[in-house]
Amino acid sequence: MYTILDDAARRAQGYLRSLAERPVAPDATAAAALRQLDEPLPAASSDPAESLALLDRVVSPATLAMAGPRFFGFVIGGSLPGALAANWLAGAWDQNAALYASVPGVSHIELVALRWLVDLFDLPAGTGGGFVTGATVANFTALAAARNGVLGRLGWNVEAQGLFGAPPITVITGEEAHPTLLKSLGMLGLGRARILRVPVDDQGRMRADGLPAIRGPTILCLQAGNLNTGSFDPFGDLIPRAHAAGAWVHVDGAFGLWAKAAPALRHLVEGVEKADSWATDAHKWLNVPYDSGLAFVRDAHTLKAAMAITAEYLPTETSERNPCDFTPELSRRARGVEVWMALRSLGRAGLAEMFERNCRQARRFAENLRAAGFEILNDVVLNQVLVSFGSADRTREVIARIQSDGTCWCGGTVWQGKTAMRISVCSWATTDQDVERSLAAMVRAAAV
Ligand SMILES: Cc1ncc(COP(=O)(O)O)c(C=O)c1O
Repeated sequence: MYTILDDAARRAQGYLRSLAERPVAPDATAAAALRQLDEPLPAASSDPAESLALLDRVVSPATLAMAGPRFFGFVIGGSLPGALAANWLAGAWDQNAALYASVPGVSHIELVALRWLVDLFDLPAGTGGGFVTGATVANFTALAAARNGVLGRLGWNVEAQGLFGAPPITVITGEEAHPTLLKSLGMLGLGRARILRVPVDDQGRMRADGLPAIRGPTILCLQAGNLNTGSFDPFGDLIPRAHAAGAWVHVDGAFGLWAKAAPALRHLVEGVEKADSWATDAHKWLNVPYDSGLAFVRDAHTLKAAMAITAEYLPTETSERNPCDFTPELSRRARGVEVWMALRSLGRAGLAEMFERNCRQARRFAENLRAAGFEILNDVVLNQVLVSFGSADRTREVIARIQSDGTCWCGGTVWQGKTAMRISVCSWATTDQDVERSLAAMVRAAAV
């Protein structure tokens, strides 16, 4: 009965091994073959091994090789083989990672991973955290605590009273805040249109001289790692000023917060640990499988007050940490298991090596493309590179050619009015040879 798992493991290994050489983007034939799946829901049962073979035959070729070594689109990251293996084992356990009393194993391992992360990011002792689906929900979770925290200081209980008649909260973000942060604020009833947006500089960093005077309940949202440039808001300047005026400071560090874990990058996030809450992703730069994000709140009680539930049928009574007290979900998979595996197997040295290598590789892309005559639009401080191949049309044409060549994959963007190609280096699997091969493909595509 369980031999199908061997079959899946064999197919998964075959797929992963193929990534080094197959074209990164699926071709039109693979997309057309997906029509084979358009069948009516079968009336009778069948051998799942046959469906697994169908999946592998038809869907594997139609995947974008995001897990491969030459995928530089969006901000993605692959899956460390160890993290994927932990994901499989945790899948077999099929634990509902909600309550310590029923699932002590995964509850405890999440606690261990959280302790390590708080230490790795230099966050204050006592910081609370939750394992969520990604940075969007991590922002949502931490900002729910922020909203309740700033109103709680005025004696307003959001959990009980909601926002009806509550004192208005001022929310401040940079012009370059990620759209998912704005979405989170909207979902929390804080409104997307009433946010005060602070101007940014040419790297997308919030301009400290543009911070408005802070009065009353206020949440200031800063960013560690701009999606386009990789830049960081000036934490050292802004956080103390915001705190002096009584504001709550939240940091969206979807990938940039990991700079804390690398000695050569740590200066970029100096002072970030002084904030009140933080959001980051594990499925990006930590290279664990989707979906995996992390929310942290300095005052664990405020996070717990915003997220905890009780019900007669649930065994919530425990002196241990109930995972569901810190996340929007009650039932969820034990995604902390892969995080634990990635942290434990890489260790501090392996984490630093991966982050620093990816940043060095990003600089190599920039230097080489600049030397080939193309314009690099950002200061490459982290793992993101913006390159223009000339006019907007010309740049879009080169991106399309790179994508169809299949050696590597990069997407486009418009940075402060200029069309550019984004190179985002976040995979454990990317070697220096992959960078050289990709550079040659880019230069070839741009020479036509
Ligand atoms: C700065 C920033 N915040 C939030 C997000 C959203 O992350 P996710 O898609 O994992 O929810 C991203 C995604 O790239 C990001 O770069």
